[in-house]
Amino acid sequence: LLQNSRQNNTAWHIRHILSARQFTREDLDLVLEHAAAMEILVKEKGWSNTLAGKVMATIFYEPSTRTRMSFEFAMSKLGGKVCGTENAKEFSSASKGETIEDTVRVLSYADVIVIRHYEQGAAERAAKVSAVPIINAGDGPGEHPTQALLDLYTIKKEFGVFDGKTIAMVGDLLNGRTVRSLAQLLTHFSGVSIIFVSPKKLRVCDDIKQLLKERGVAFTETERIEDALPTADVLYMTRIQKERFKNPDGTANEEEYNKYKGVYVLGLDKIKQMKDKAIIMHPLPRVDEIPVEADADPRARYFEQAKNGLYVRMALLDLLINK
Ligand code: CP
Repeated sequence: LLQNSRQNNTAWHIRHILSARQFTREDLDLVLEHAAAMEILVKEKGWSNTLAGKVMATIFYEPSTRTRMSFEFAMSKLGGKVCGTENAKEFSSASKGETIEDTVRVLSYADVIVIRHYEQGAAERAAKVSAVPIINAGDGPGEHPTQALLDLYTIKKEFGVFDGKTIAMVGDLLNGRTVRSLAQLLTHFSGVSIIFVSPKKLRVCDDIKQLLKERGVAFTETERIEDALPTADVLYMTRIQKERFKNPDGTANEEEYNKYKGVYVLGLDKIKQMKDKAIIMHPLPRVDEIPVEADADPRARYFEQAKNGLYVRMALLDLLINK
Protein backbone atom coordinates (compact mmCIF):
# COMPACT_ATOMS: atom_id res chain seq x y z
CA LEU A 1 0.00 0.00 0.00
CA LEU A 2 2.85 2.35 0.88
CA GLN A 3 4.53 1.51 -2.45
CA ASN A 4 1.30 2.28 -4.32
CA SER A 5 0.84 5.48 -2.40
CA ARG A 6 4.43 6.48 -3.14
CA GLN A 7 3.94 5.92 -6.87
CA ASN A 8 1.37 8.72 -6.78
CA ASN A 9 3.87 11.04 -5.16
CA THR A 10 5.56 12.21 -8.33
CA ALA A 11 3.61 15.46 -8.02
CA TRP A 12 5.17 16.31 -4.64
CA HIS A 13 6.99 19.63 -5.02
CA ILE A 14 7.16 21.03 -1.49
CA ARG A 15 10.64 21.52 -0.04
CA HIS A 16 9.78 23.20 3.28
CA ILE A 17 6.47 23.03 5.17
CA LEU A 18 5.98 26.55 6.45
CA SER A 19 2.37 27.57 5.90
CA ALA A 20 -0.98 26.03 5.05
CA ARG A 21 -1.08 28.50 2.18
CA GLN A 22 1.54 26.48 0.24
CA PHE A 23 -0.75 23.51 -0.27
CA THR A 24 -2.76 22.94 -3.44
CA ARG A 25 -5.77 20.65 -3.51
CA GLU A 26 -3.60 17.99 -5.20
CA ASP A 27 -1.02 18.28 -2.39
CA LEU A 28 -3.74 17.80 0.20
CA ASP A 29 -5.14 14.73 -1.55
CA LEU A 30 -1.66 13.29 -1.72
CA VAL A 31 -0.86 13.91 1.98
CA LEU A 32 -4.21 12.47 3.08
CA GLU A 33 -3.76 9.38 0.93
CA HIS A 34 -0.20 8.86 2.13
CA ALA A 35 -1.26 9.34 5.76
CA ALA A 36 -3.94 6.68 5.31
CA ALA A 37 -1.27 4.29 4.01
CA MET A 38 0.87 5.12 7.06
CA GLU A 39 -2.03 4.41 9.40
CA ILE A 40 -2.46 0.97 7.85
CA LEU A 41 1.29 0.40 8.07
CA VAL A 42 1.34 1.23 11.79
CA LYS A 43 -1.73 -0.86 12.54
CA GLU A 44 -0.71 -3.91 10.50
CA LYS A 45 3.09 -4.00 10.69
CA GLY A 46 4.01 -1.32 13.21
CA TRP A 47 7.03 0.14 11.47
CA SER A 48 9.06 0.39 8.26
CA ASN A 49 12.68 1.10 7.35
CA THR A 50 11.88 3.62 4.66
CA LEU A 51 13.88 6.37 6.43
CA ALA A 52 16.71 4.17 7.74
CA GLY A 53 19.94 6.15 7.89
CA LYS A 54 18.13 9.50 7.97
CA VAL A 55 18.17 11.85 10.96
CA MET A 56 15.55 14.40 12.00
CA ALA A 57 16.57 17.39 14.16
CA THR A 58 13.94 18.91 16.43
CA ILE A 59 14.43 22.38 17.90
CA PHE A 60 11.56 23.47 20.12
CA TYR A 61 11.81 26.97 21.59
CA GLU A 62 8.28 26.62 23.00
CA PRO A 63 6.77 23.71 24.96
CA SER A 64 5.03 20.82 23.20
CA THR A 65 3.67 17.38 23.98
CA ARG A 66 1.92 16.19 20.82
CA THR A 67 3.82 17.84 18.03
CA ARG A 68 7.32 17.01 19.20
CA MET A 69 6.51 13.51 20.38
CA SER A 70 4.51 12.57 17.30
CA PHE A 71 7.26 13.83 15.01
CA GLU A 72 9.81 11.83 17.00
CA PHE A 73 7.65 8.71 16.99
CA ALA A 74 6.93 9.18 13.28
CA MET A 75 10.64 9.27 12.46
CA SER A 76 11.33 6.26 14.68
CA LYS A 77 8.49 4.24 13.16
CA LEU A 78 9.98 4.83 9.71
CA GLY A 79 13.40 3.60 10.80
CA GLY A 80 15.04 7.02 11.12
CA LYS A 81 16.79 8.62 14.08
CA VAL A 82 16.08 11.76 16.06
CA CYS A 83 18.37 14.36 17.65
CA GLY A 84 16.87 17.38 19.25
CA THR A 85 16.50 19.90 21.97
CA GLU A 86 13.39 20.87 23.86
CA ASN A 87 13.33 24.22 25.63
CA ALA A 88 15.78 25.42 22.99
CA LYS A 89 15.41 28.97 24.24
CA GLU A 90 17.38 27.92 27.30
CA PHE A 91 19.21 24.72 26.28
CA SER A 92 20.48 25.72 22.84
CA SER A 93 22.97 28.51 22.06
CA ALA A 94 19.98 30.79 21.51
CA SER A 95 20.50 31.54 25.20
CA LYS A 96 23.89 33.01 24.23
CA GLY A 97 22.40 35.08 21.44
CA GLU A 98 22.65 32.72 18.46
CA THR A 99 20.12 33.46 15.72
CA ILE A 100 17.80 30.82 14.31
CA GLU A 101 19.50 31.31 10.95
CA ASP A 102 22.88 30.33 12.38
CA THR A 103 21.39 27.40 14.26
CA VAL A 104 19.90 25.85 11.12
CA ARG A 105 23.07 26.56 9.11
CA VAL A 106 24.94 24.46 11.66
CA LEU A 107 22.32 21.69 11.53
CA SER A 108 22.88 21.12 7.81
CA TYR A 109 23.94 17.53 8.60
CA ALA A 110 20.32 16.69 9.46
CA ASP A 111 17.97 15.35 6.78
CA VAL A 112 15.06 17.45 8.02
CA ILE A 113 14.67 20.08 10.77
CA VAL A 114 11.45 20.53 12.75
CA ILE A 115 11.17 23.92 14.47
CA ARG A 116 8.73 25.35 16.97
CA HIS A 117 9.39 29.00 17.76
CA TYR A 118 7.71 31.79 19.70
CA GLU A 119 8.09 34.33 16.87
CA GLN A 120 5.79 34.43 13.86
CA GLY A 121 7.82 33.93 10.68
CA ALA A 122 10.76 32.21 12.43
CA ALA A 123 10.44 28.99 10.41
CA GLU A 124 10.32 30.97 7.18
CA ARG A 125 13.50 32.82 8.16
CA ALA A 126 15.15 29.49 8.93
CA ALA A 127 14.07 28.03 5.57
CA LYS A 128 15.67 30.91 3.66
CA VAL A 129 19.14 29.79 4.77
CA SER A 130 18.63 26.08 5.36
CA ALA A 131 20.31 23.43 3.24
CA VAL A 132 17.71 20.86 4.34
CA PRO A 133 13.89 20.84 4.58
CA ILE A 134 12.36 22.85 7.43
CA ILE A 135 9.03 21.98 9.01
CA ASN A 136 7.16 24.68 10.89
CA ALA A 137 5.85 23.03 14.06
CA GLY A 138 4.23 26.29 15.20
CA ASP A 139 5.57 29.84 14.97
CA GLY A 140 4.10 32.06 17.67
CA PRO A 141 0.58 33.15 16.71
CA GLY A 142 1.43 32.50 13.04
CA GLU A 143 0.74 29.01 11.74
CA HIS A 144 0.78 25.33 12.60
CA PRO A 145 0.43 23.68 9.18
CA THR A 146 1.08 20.08 10.22
CA GLN A 147 -1.62 20.36 12.90
CA ALA A 148 -4.04 21.62 10.23
CA LEU A 149 -3.18 18.64 8.03
CA LEU A 150 -3.92 16.19 10.82
CA ASP A 151 -7.14 18.08 11.55
CA LEU A 152 -8.09 17.67 7.91
CA TYR A 153 -7.23 13.96 8.06
CA THR A 154 -9.46 13.58 11.13
CA ILE A 155 -12.41 15.25 9.38
CA LYS A 156 -11.85 13.15 6.24
CA LYS A 157 -11.79 9.94 8.28
CA GLU A 158 -15.04 10.89 9.93
CA PHE A 159 -17.10 12.16 7.02
CA GLY A 160 -15.27 10.96 3.90
CA VAL A 161 -15.82 14.36 2.29
CA PHE A 162 -15.50 18.00 3.33
CA ASP A 163 -17.93 19.43 0.84
CA GLY A 164 -20.98 20.99 2.43
CA LYS A 165 -19.70 20.65 5.98
CA THR A 166 -19.98 23.40 8.59
CA ILE A 167 -16.94 23.86 10.77
CA ALA A 168 -17.27 26.00 13.90
CA MET A 169 -13.99 27.29 15.35
CA VAL A 170 -14.27 28.43 18.94
CA GLY A 171 -11.97 30.32 21.29
CA ASP A 172 -8.99 32.64 20.93
CA LEU A 173 -9.04 32.98 17.16
CA LEU A 174 -6.71 35.98 17.18
CA ASN A 175 -3.77 34.05 18.63
CA GLY A 176 -4.71 30.49 17.71
CA ARG A 177 -2.34 29.34 14.99
CA THR A 178 -4.12 26.03 14.39
CA VAL A 179 -7.29 27.88 13.42
CA ARG A 180 -5.39 30.15 11.04
CA SER A 181 -3.86 27.14 9.28
CA LEU A 182 -7.01 25.00 9.20
CA ALA A 183 -9.17 27.81 7.82
CA GLN A 184 -6.72 28.20 4.93
CA LEU A 185 -6.78 24.48 4.09
CA LEU A 186 -10.58 24.38 4.15
CA THR A 187 -10.72 26.90 1.28
CA HIS A 188 -9.86 24.04 -1.08
CA PHE A 189 -13.20 22.30 -0.58
CA SER A 190 -16.45 23.48 -2.09
CA GLY A 191 -19.50 24.17 0.01
CA VAL A 192 -17.57 24.33 3.28
CA SER A 193 -18.80 27.04 5.63
CA ILE A 194 -17.09 28.31 8.76
CA ILE A 195 -18.54 29.81 11.93
CA PHE A 196 -15.93 31.75 13.92
CA VAL A 197 -16.90 31.94 17.60
CA SER A 198 -14.76 34.28 19.71
CA PRO A 199 -14.86 37.31 21.96
CA LYS A 200 -14.83 40.53 19.90
CA LYS A 201 -11.22 41.32 20.80
CA LEU A 202 -10.02 37.82 19.89
CA ARG A 203 -11.50 37.60 16.41
CA VAL A 204 -9.71 35.80 13.59
CA CYS A 205 -7.34 38.12 11.69
CA ASP A 206 -8.37 40.00 8.56
CA ASP A 207 -5.84 38.22 6.31
CA ILE A 208 -7.71 34.93 6.87
CA LYS A 209 -11.11 36.53 6.30
CA GLN A 210 -9.80 38.17 3.13
CA LEU A 211 -8.59 34.79 1.81
CA LEU A 212 -11.96 33.19 2.57
CA LYS A 213 -13.73 35.97 0.67
CA GLU A 214 -11.38 35.64 -2.31
CA ARG A 215 -11.99 31.89 -2.47
CA GLY A 216 -15.74 32.15 -1.96
CA VAL A 217 -15.88 30.38 1.42
CA ALA A 218 -18.96 31.37 3.43
CA PHE A 219 -18.23 32.40 7.00
CA THR A 220 -19.93 34.13 9.90
CA GLU A 221 -18.62 35.57 13.16
CA THR A 222 -20.36 35.42 16.52
CA GLU A 223 -19.53 35.72 20.21
CA ARG A 224 -22.09 33.06 21.20
CA ILE A 225 -21.15 29.37 21.02
CA GLU A 226 -24.89 28.61 21.14
CA ASP A 227 -25.18 30.04 17.61
CA ALA A 228 -22.90 27.28 16.31
CA LEU A 229 -24.00 24.23 18.30
CA PRO A 230 -27.11 23.17 16.31
CA THR A 231 -25.55 23.53 12.84
CA ALA A 232 -21.87 22.58 13.21
CA ASP A 233 -20.68 19.26 11.80
CA VAL A 234 -17.31 19.90 13.43
CA LEU A 235 -17.00 21.88 16.64
CA TYR A 236 -13.32 22.83 16.80
CA MET A 237 -12.62 24.06 20.33
CA THR A 238 -9.42 25.91 21.20
CA ARG A 239 -8.00 27.33 24.40
CA ILE A 240 -7.39 30.97 25.21
CA GLN A 241 -3.68 31.31 24.40
CA LYS A 242 -2.41 32.55 27.76
CA GLU A 243 1.20 32.83 26.62
CA ARG A 244 0.28 35.42 23.96
CA PHE A 245 -1.17 37.94 26.45
CA LYS A 246 1.77 40.26 27.05
CA ASN A 247 2.36 43.74 28.43
CA PRO A 248 4.37 46.17 26.25
CA ASP A 249 7.52 45.25 28.25
CA GLY A 250 7.06 41.54 27.39
CA THR A 251 5.83 40.41 30.82
CA ALA A 252 2.69 38.27 31.14
CA ASN A 253 -0.56 40.24 31.12
CA GLU A 254 -2.59 38.10 33.54
CA GLU A 255 -5.28 40.73 33.91
CA GLU A 256 -6.10 40.71 30.19
CA TYR A 257 -5.97 36.89 30.04
CA ASN A 258 -8.32 36.59 33.01
CA LYS A 259 -10.94 38.59 31.10
CA TYR A 260 -11.27 35.73 28.60
CA LYS A 261 -10.34 32.65 30.62
CA GLY A 262 -13.32 30.31 30.83
CA VAL A 263 -15.36 32.24 28.29
CA TYR A 264 -16.29 29.09 26.35
CA VAL A 265 -16.83 25.85 28.25
CA LEU A 266 -18.38 22.96 26.34
CA GLY A 267 -20.34 21.40 29.18
CA LEU A 268 -22.73 18.48 28.74
CA ASP A 269 -25.65 20.93 28.56
CA LYS A 270 -24.10 22.48 25.47
CA ILE A 271 -23.07 19.16 23.89
CA LYS A 272 -26.75 18.14 24.02
CA GLN A 273 -27.50 20.95 21.58
CA MET A 274 -25.14 19.52 18.93
CA LYS A 275 -26.10 17.28 16.01
CA ASP A 276 -25.93 13.55 16.76
CA LYS A 277 -23.42 13.00 13.97
CA ALA A 278 -21.26 16.06 14.72
CA ILE A 279 -17.78 15.69 16.16
CA ILE A 280 -15.86 17.64 18.78
CA MET A 281 -12.25 18.40 17.96
CA HIS A 282 -9.51 20.28 19.84
CA PRO A 283 -5.83 20.58 18.93
CA LEU A 284 -5.03 20.22 22.67
CA PRO A 285 -3.78 20.96 25.24
CA ARG A 286 -7.12 21.86 26.77
CA VAL A 287 -7.44 24.04 29.85
CA ASP A 288 -11.08 24.34 30.90
CA GLU A 289 -12.91 24.59 27.58
CA ILE A 290 -13.78 20.86 27.41
CA PRO A 291 -14.49 19.30 30.82
CA VAL A 292 -13.39 15.67 31.26
CA GLU A 293 -17.07 14.63 31.50
CA ALA A 294 -17.29 15.31 27.76
CA ASP A 295 -14.67 12.66 26.97
CA ALA A 296 -17.24 9.86 27.19
CA ASP A 297 -19.53 11.52 24.65
CA PRO A 298 -19.48 9.54 21.38
CA ARG A 299 -18.84 12.78 19.49
CA ALA A 300 -15.51 13.48 21.23
CA ARG A 301 -12.64 13.02 18.76
CA TYR A 302 -9.76 15.03 20.24
CA PHE A 303 -7.63 12.14 21.43
CA GLU A 304 -8.10 10.26 18.16
CA GLN A 305 -7.27 13.55 16.41
CA ALA A 306 -3.98 13.75 18.34
CA LYS A 307 -3.17 10.16 17.37
CA ASN A 308 -3.75 10.98 13.72
CA GLY A 309 -0.79 13.33 14.07
CA LEU A 310 1.49 10.29 14.02
CA TYR A 311 0.23 9.06 10.64
CA VAL A 312 0.18 12.50 9.03
CA ARG A 313 3.69 13.32 10.24
CA MET A 314 4.98 9.95 9.05
CA ALA A 315 3.54 10.80 5.64
CA LEU A 316 5.09 14.27 5.61
CA LEU A 317 8.55 13.03 6.65
CA ASP A 318 8.47 10.33 3.98
CA LEU A 319 7.38 12.80 1.31
CA LEU A 320 9.95 15.44 2.28
CA ILE A 321 12.93 13.15 2.76
CA ASN A 322 12.34 10.43 0.21
CA LYS A 323 11.40 12.77 -2.59
N1 CP B 1 -1.58 20.65 19.25
C1 CP B 1 -0.33 20.93 19.63
O1 CP B 1 0.41 21.64 18.92
O2 CP B 1 0.03 20.40 20.82
P1 CP B 1 1.46 20.57 21.50
O3 CP B 1 1.60 22.03 21.85
O4 CP B 1 1.45 19.69 22.69
O5 CP B 1 2.50 20.18 20.49
